[in-house]
Order: sequence, then structure tokens, then C-alpha cells
Amino acid sequence: MTDRSSPASAYDGGPESFAFTEANRKYAEKQIAKYPEGKQASAVKGLLDLAMRQMEAETGARWLPRAAMDHVAGILGMAPIRVYEVASFYTMFKTRPVGRHHLQVCTTTPCWLRGSDAVLHACRLAAGNVPDGTVSADGLFSVEEVECLGACVNAPVLWVGDHFYEDLDGPAAQRLIEALKRGEHPRHGPQTGRQNAAPAGGPTTLTEVPPPVPYRPEAATPEPAAGE
Ligand code: FES
Repeated sequence: MTDRSSPASAYDGGPESFAFTEANRKYAEKQIAKYPEGKQASAVKGLLDLAMRQMEAETGARWLPRAAMDHVAGILGMAPIRVYEVASFYTMFKTRPVGRHHLQVCTTTPCWLRGSDAVLHACRLAAGNVPDGTVSADGLFSVEEVECLGACVNAPVLWVGDHFYEDLDGPAAQRLIEALKRGEHPRHGPQTGRQNAAPAGGPTTLTEVPPPVPYRPEAATPEPAAGE
């Protein structure tokens, strides 16, 4: 699992300064305006996500350096420590550098029972077996074990960027990683060809289109019996 034992190291390696681009500043203002006067701090998660995406656009890696959190704190009039608390509580915020492709492997029980060990192994191999929480030498990959991603019906699941890759096994994970290395955008979702979360072996109910139900006016609400 990711080493969270040393909070001070979470902020190493970031830029000295950070500021939203003009377009992002305007977007941030719109988000803040959604909240009542005095409750602007409620926009903190949205602004942190925006900052991570700007970091990705500028550096190729979606993470939150301390300078970005300080910038968000300044905009929202919050003490920086309160922003650090939010960023370090929600695991979708990465407070240390990640690779261009941050591979988040679900290893909670349903994914584990369905073979997440092989997926994790493929991911670690792609990252050159660097310790979790660090980035591969080529800057392309970092790996993190995460808790249930809420897609257990398609276990095991790998989260990369904005997408889930589901129904994986070791070879499928390797193929996916090779495609990412080539700069491709592999199709996300189930990797076995099944439709979304439909039964893996094909339909088990409603296996054919049911006949239309004839209209039966006599089946309408019965007249109340006399005396009722
Ligand atoms: S256990 Fe992996 S998505 Fe739920």
C-alpha cells in the first residue's frame, strides 16, 4: 500500500509556485459562485481537482504540489492546513508526484478473488518494480493499490486517468499497459467484450424479446362492489 507515514515527504519535488491559467481561473470563479456567501470553502474539492488537471496539462502528471494547494487556499480564503487536510483525506488527490499514467489497482476482496494479484504484478513490472509511491525511471508509470472502486461486478478493476479498465487478467493488463506506452487510448470498460455489467456468460434472464402484452381494458381498475 502507499506509504502515508511521512506527510512531510508528500510535498517534495513540486514547483515553487502555481497559479491557475486564465481559463481555469474563470472556471474556478464559476464553481465558487455556486455556493452561498460565506460557504466558498465548499468549492475546495472541485478546485483541487482543477489544479491537478492543470498540473497534468503542464507537466504530464496529475498530482497536487504544495504550491497548488496553497493557491487554492488563497483563492478560497482558507488556512492552507485545511486544504492539506482535504487533499490528504481523499485518495483521489495525489499529494506526491505520479507517473504520466498512474495505475491504481483495486485489491479489495472481490477484485482479489478475481485475480487482481496478476494485474498488480503486470503494473509493477511496467513501472520497473519501483516502490509504490514513486515513479518509473521513464516517468511513464506509478502504481498504487487502492480500495474498492465501486465496480466489483466487473472485477478486477484498474483505474487510469479518468477511466476504469475492467474484467482484467494479467495478459489483458499487459496489453493495456503496452498500448498506453505507445500513446494509444485503449477502450475503457470491460476488456472481455461483455456489455457493461451484463452477465459475463451472456443473458440469463429475458433471453428473447418478450411478446407485447395485449391491451386489456377489462383489466383496468375493478368497479367497487355494491355497498363498499
Ligand atoms: S472490490 Fe474492486 S471494485 Fe470493488
